[in-house]
Amino acid sequence: MLEQTVTIISQARDADAYFRLVLRAPQIAPLIQPGQFAHVRILPLKDALLRRPFSIFQAAGDTFSILYKNVGKGTDVLSRMRPGEELSVIAPLGHGFTVPPAGGDTPLLVAGGYGMAAMFLLAQRSPQKGIVFVGGRRRVDILCEADFAAIGWEVRVATEDGSHGEKGLVTQPLLAEIRNSKLKKRNYKLFACGPTPMLKAVGQIAEAHQLPCELSMDEHMCCGVGTCLTCVIPVKTGDSWEYQRTCTEGPVFDSRQIVWKTA
Ligand SMILES: Cc1cc2nc3c(=O)[nH]c(=O)nc-3n(C[C@H](O)[C@H](O)[C@H](O)COP(=O)(O)OP(=O)(O)OC[C@H]3O[C@@H](n4cnc5c(N)ncnc54)[C@H](O)[C@@H]3O)c2cc1C
Ligand code: FES
Repeated sequence: MLEQTVTIISQARDADAYFRLVLRAPQIAPLIQPGQFAHVRILPLKDALLRRPFSIFQAAGDTFSILYKNVGKGTDVLSRMRPGEELSVIAPLGHGFTVPPAGGDTPLLVAGGYGMAAMFLLAQRSPQKGIVFVGGRRRVDILCEADFAAIGWEVRVATEDGSHGEKGLVTQPLLAEIRNSKLKKRNYKLFACGPTPMLKAVGQIAEAHQLPCELSMDEHMCCGVGTCLTCVIPVKTGDSWEYQRTCTEGPVFDSRQIVWKTA
C-alpha cells in the first residue's frame, strides 16, 4: 500500500454518467490484485480531506484505471479533471478476489452497475474463462460488454426495463445457467460486486446450490486503511460472529461469512 500523487493520463466518458480515468502510477500499478481498490483524494475539491474509494478497473505497465459513475460532489469534480492534473491516491487497498486457477471451477462473475469495475481485472488475470452476468436498470448501466467479449468471456445481460438483454434482474440468467449446469455436471464458483440487495441474492443462490462464492461488499468508507471503523460489517467466525472492516479484511468476503441485516 502506497500513498502517492499520481497524474491523469486520460479521462473519457464511457456512457451516460460513467467515466474511465487512466492514471500514471509506476510504483502502485505492479502491486495491484483483482478486487482491490484505490482511495482517492480529489485535490481540486473544496473539502478535499475525505477520500473516495474506487475499485481498480485495469492495471497494466505503469498505469491503472478506474471506471466510475458521477453520483455526487466528489465524482462531479473528478469528471471535470483533465490529463496532466494530479490526484492523491492510497493504493492498492483491501483484500481482493481469489484468481480462479487453471482447471478449477468455472468462474461466473456477476456485476451490477459500477460493480463491473471490480470484475474486469479478475477476468483478465483468470486462466480459466467463464461467463459474466451484467445487470443494470437501463441499457446505459451495462458497462464493459465489449471489453469482456474481447478477452474471450461470454457475456449475458439483463436490464430491469428490458432495453438490453433479458428483461429483469441479473440473478435470473445466473440462476438459469446454474440450473442448466446440473445437466452438464459443471462446477461453478461465483464472484459478485454490485448493490447490496444483489450481493445478498447472489449469496443466497450460492448457498442454495452449494457453490463457493466471493462477494465484494459496498460499504461507506472514511479512512480506507482500517482505523476509523466506519466500514465494519458483521462476519461469522466459527459458531459466533464479529465486526470486520470492509476496507482491510474486505472488501471481498466468502459469502458464507456474511451476516445479512434483516430487511
Ligand atoms: C470498495 C468500494 C469500491 C467502489 N468502487 C467504485 C467504482 O469502481 N466505481 C464507482 O463509480 N463507485 C465506486 N464506489 C462508490 C464510490 O466510492 C462513491 O460513489 C463515491 O465515493 C461518491 O463520491 P461523491 O463525492 O461523488 O458522492 P457524495 O456526494 O459523497 O454522495 C453522493 C451519493 O453517492 C452515495 N455514495 C457515497 N459513497 C457510496 C458508496 N460507497 N456506495 C454507494 N453509494 C455511495 C451517497 O450515499 C450519495 O447518495 C466504491 C465504493 C467502495 C466502498
Ligand atoms: S474505512 Fe476506516 S476502518 Fe474501514
